[in-house]
Amino acid sequence: MSDRLYIFDTTLRDGEQSPGCSMNLDEKMRVAHSLAALGVDIIEAGFPIASPGDFEAVHRIASEVNGPKIAGLARAAKGDIDRAGEAVKPAGDRARIHTFIATSPIHMEAKLRMTPDQVVERAVTAVKQARSLVPEVEFSAEDAGRSEMDFLCRIVESVIAAGARVINIPDTVGYMTPDEFGWRIRNLIERVPNSDQAVFSVHCHNDLGLAVANSLAAVENGARQVECTINGLGERAGNASLEEIVMIMKTRSDRYDIETGIDTTKIVPSSKLVSQITGMPIQPNKAIVGANAFAHESGIHQDGVLKHKKTYEIMTPESVGWSTNRMVLGKHSGRAALKSRYAELGVELDDERLVVIFDRFKVLADKKKDIFDEDLMAILSGDSDIGAEHVKLIALHAASGTNDAPVAAVELDIDGARHKATAEGDGPVDAAFKAIKSLVEPNGKLLLYAVNAITAGTDAQGEVTVRLQDGDRTVNGQGSDTDIVVASAKALIDALNKLPNMHAKVVHAQYSGV
Ligand code: KIV
Ligand code: ZN
Repeated sequence: MSDRLYIFDTTLRDGEQSPGCSMNLDEKMRVAHSLAALGVDIIEAGFPIASPGDFEAVHRIASEVNGPKIAGLARAAKGDIDRAGEAVKPAGDRARIHTFIATSPIHMEAKLRMTPDQVVERAVTAVKQARSLVPEVEFSAEDAGRSEMDFLCRIVESVIAAGARVINIPDTVGYMTPDEFGWRIRNLIERVPNSDQAVFSVHCHNDLGLAVANSLAAVENGARQVECTINGLGERAGNASLEEIVMIMKTRSDRYDIETGIDTTKIVPSSKLVSQITGMPIQPNKAIVGANAFAHESGIHQDGVLKHKKTYEIMTPESVGWSTNRMVLGKHSGRAALKSRYAELGVELDDERLVVIFDRFKVLADKKKDIFDEDLMAILSGDSDIGAEHVKLIALHAASGTNDAPVAAVELDIDGARHKATAEGDGPVDAAFKAIKSLVEPNGKLLLYAVNAITAGTDAQGEVTVRLQDGDRTVNGQGSDTDIVVASAKALIDALNKLPNMHAKVVHAQYSGV
């Protein structure tokens, strides 16, 4: 009988703390549903005290997402815990409060300005309070990697006695090496007298590129929950990547004999969804989910794989959700087929949403013969602000050539009124951006522009990600189209629609025809 490793996904909390990765409510809901379909055990849905938006997201996920436990993060403080308890309450017996306080000397002295005794007392009070609100409490000793072992044992014993049933040991700054970290976990489990009353968990950051290796060392030494994120998103260099941890357990079951509850065939769709929503591209050579992860380039490798896949493949692309039969739907496909294909990709569409997505699908199917999974996910990404799109692209014409100055003319619908502008630029995309930006305010500072060919062939859909900054707010927009200038304009407009108070500029540039 194999052992069980619990997968705690923190894409929506620590992942969202990656610079530029903030998601709106609709986007968080889509990620949460896809995590549930993937089979994660716990979704850390956010940090409810952080903002009203965070609270609402956690509350809605706790109300609408079935399956996984739903956790809300809280500092060891009464206000935080009350707010987290209220946010996760709709999850009923699946509700968890995850409360934390720092335990390393540097954090206690310089940040908290508290003595170790005060920290233990605060942690115990917090766990008791949380336990009065929800059925399950997780306690994290922030910066445990740099905490003194004796103190760590003391606080862990105290919070278990106070009711914590999951003890998380974070390597907050990614400082540990695998043997040190594994030893810490083993030592805690052996030395803390009531350790058998809790599941030990780890939360590793990737500052030295060791997050997965350290998590694995912890599992080898008794940890049975791993906190991780899709694509390894997270603060600074990120967190341990979910797909790597899960596929290590599966591919090396000979060594670990530990199961996860993950449906591995949903890994790639979830990874793409998160990448598209956050605008954080996946490096091509990223393990499991990178575009090159299963591409064999050298002749020797290709020859070997053709003769026997196992010569160079330790897992199959299909087992992680890279589909072999990539052509799925075309313009004759109906709504039921579309809905069922999305369900296979981990996206449940209700009837209202299906109508909108089906219209987009038909528009694409008219332009493009074969519709692939990637196309379907890209169609979804324009979906974030249905019903709240202040700005819509009506028409775009761009011209460029070797001897002509690039020029673009756009027509936008802004809050129901038509507006037109033309502009010249350094290229057709630049010209289109200038024309669009001349019509709206606020229009943000462009921080990132990235193009991805998301399907193969010259009629491939191009996907563009645009990141804009307006004051202290950063937003991402995605657009996809077979025409890259149109995809870029859609991405810019998608981002503009996420800026607060978007409206038409009073004075418009001259229109010269689209
Ligand atoms: O990195 C960290 O220590 C955290 C805790 C809140 C678990 O994210
Ligand atoms: Zn963290």
